[in-house]
Amino acid sequence: MKPKRTFLSFIGRYRGSLVLSILFAMTYSAGQIGGLLSIGGFFSETFISKNFDYFSFQTIAILFGFGVLWAGSHYLAFLFSNTLAVRVIHDLRGEIYERLIDLPISYYKRNRSGDILSRIINDIGVMEVFLMNTVVEMIAQPITVVAAVVILFIINTQISLYFFSIVPLIALALGGLGALVQSRSMKVQQNISNITAHIQETVFGIEVIKGFGVESEIRKRFTRSNDEHLKSIRQEIKIRLLGTPTMEILGVIGVIIILVLGAMSINSNLAESGQIVTFIMLALGLSQPLAQVGNISMVLRKLKPASQRIFEIVNSDEKEDFSRPDMGVIEGKIELKKLSFGYTEDRLILDNIDLKVSPGETVAIVGSSGAGKSTLISLIPVFNLPTGGKVMIDGADISTINPHSIRRQISIVTQETILFSGTIRENILLSRPEASEADMIEAARIANIHEFIAGMPLGYDTVIGERGVTLSGGQRQRVVLARAILRKPKILILDEATSSLDAESEKLIGEAMKKILGKQTTLIITHKLSSVAHADTIIVIEGGKIIERGTHKELIERKGIYDKLYRIQLNI
Ligand SMILES: Nc1ncnc2c1ncn2[C@@H]1O[C@H](COP(=O)(O)OP(=O)(O)OP(=O)(O)O)[C@@H](O)[C@H]1O
Ligand SMILES: [Mg+2]
Repeated sequence: MKPKRTFLSFIGRYRGSLVLSILFAMTYSAGQIGGLLSIGGFFSETFISKNFDYFSFQTIAILFGFGVLWAGSHYLAFLFSNTLAVRVIHDLRGEIYERLIDLPISYYKRNRSGDILSRIINDIGVMEVFLMNTVVEMIAQPITVVAAVVILFIINTQISLYFFSIVPLIALALGGLGALVQSRSMKVQQNISNITAHIQETVFGIEVIKGFGVESEIRKRFTRSNDEHLKSIRQEIKIRLLGTPTMEILGVIGVIIILVLGAMSINSNLAESGQIVTFIMLALGLSQPLAQVGNISMVLRKLKPASQRIFEIVNSDEKEDFSRPDMGVIEGKIELKKLSFGYTEDRLILDNIDLKVSPGETVAIVGSSGAGKSTLISLIPVFNLPTGGKVMIDGADISTINPHSIRRQISIVTQETILFSGTIRENILLSRPEASEADMIEAARIANIHEFIAGMPLGYDTVIGERGVTLSGGQRQRVVLARAILRKPKILILDEATSSLDAESEKLIGEAMKKILGKQTTLIITHKLSSVAHADTIIVIEGGKIIERGTHKELIERKGIYDKLYRIQLNI
């Protein structure tokens, strides 16, 4: 099994940037501490001890030097962390896209596309912010804190002990707040998912929404999700932002402790005033990094749920096995053996189906709506795996074969005419990018769409909108058909592929298709029985079982269901 990938493994690829970023984060905090120490030294020497020899070009230069170190390192640390961030996010996005392409169709049937989109947009955003800003702070601030603490202890152990008696309070406060933020964060991300899904469904379904005039209902539903999100994110920020002031208050308490103890120590000669000044400088300098530590711990809590949702996709082992042996060029023999299938365990959609189709044969599948016809053909390109029995192509059980090598030789046309934004040429050539112009035109002629395309000013280079929205339903269906034919598949599956066509168009395609029927095994699902009377075999499916099979003539003579349906359709 492949090792599970983690956020760290993605970051690890850019160790260089990470190391440099950490390095500059360290010099950044060195500049900070150094600056504070020299200000403290300057203060106690010149202001308290009135040692004006100290007030020299050298001391000023040192101060300025620390300032430059601080500012320069700050820039470089963030430069490298941001470079790291954009690279890691780039890779992560690439990886997720790869996964999305690889995930089986069943995954998409189970998960809302809005949820998938939200992970790619929102959750990745959280991770990006983390890498851009938090990584540097995460290194620099704790170093500053630890270094300052060590120096404080060196200066005066006793006062330090009192000062740091607030540490357990800090840990307690951050731990408690962090846990709250994490649980809220999960909810926030879930709500963002809902919103994304809503927007997406609205954009895709706008015609239905406007057509039924249900804008206000849909708006109400969206408002509910949007308000819900507002509520949850307000709760979340209230808690998340508490991290910083909590640390600030604790810092103030610390400083008060030092002031009081310092005054008492000087009074009883336990410490010198110079010591206390440096002490206060450092303690004050500490309050900002400590506040940052609070903030960092909150961002980390937010990061966890986001990265969980991302890596659920990245590490999903729900992947089709493309490492199985390839099939090679097939003849197109299909055998279904005691085939059963159910989308869920409790309901069989296909029940014990046996069917043999010889290469080049045309089989029509008819039967009432919901009988299981589309489900049956979904098992041939391995979109679904049988629950029982086998699908064999050219004598091989397809569950043992690389699904790519089978799909490469199959064309499927359904009622859903999926086109991509781009030119008509690009859309047709999708099935066989290397095909010649002549092959493309021939396929378009068979699909009875060539004349139409050629009649447009830009011909095959006409750009069609996203999802083919600038074409009519029937035109789209014919472009999709041309795409399927161009592939020259060994198995052609037409699932109500001519349902949006007018009678004449359908007849013309029927005539043209006769030229290619027999060149491949063809499975045709249709409700128009008259259009499949020429098929070599017709099977009638009802309730997931084959209840009649034979040629048109045989089935008519049998005077069963097929004959009855045929008569109804012909009105005789
Ligand atoms: N993704 C799915 N998850 C669960 N059940 C499904 C799914 N797709 C289809 N079904 C169920 O399987 C049964 C068969 O559906 P199928 O699409 O195969 O019917 P069909 O014969 O193609 O019908 P039609 O002629 O209307 O296209 C139906 O009862 C349907 O509710
Ligand atoms: Mg169907």
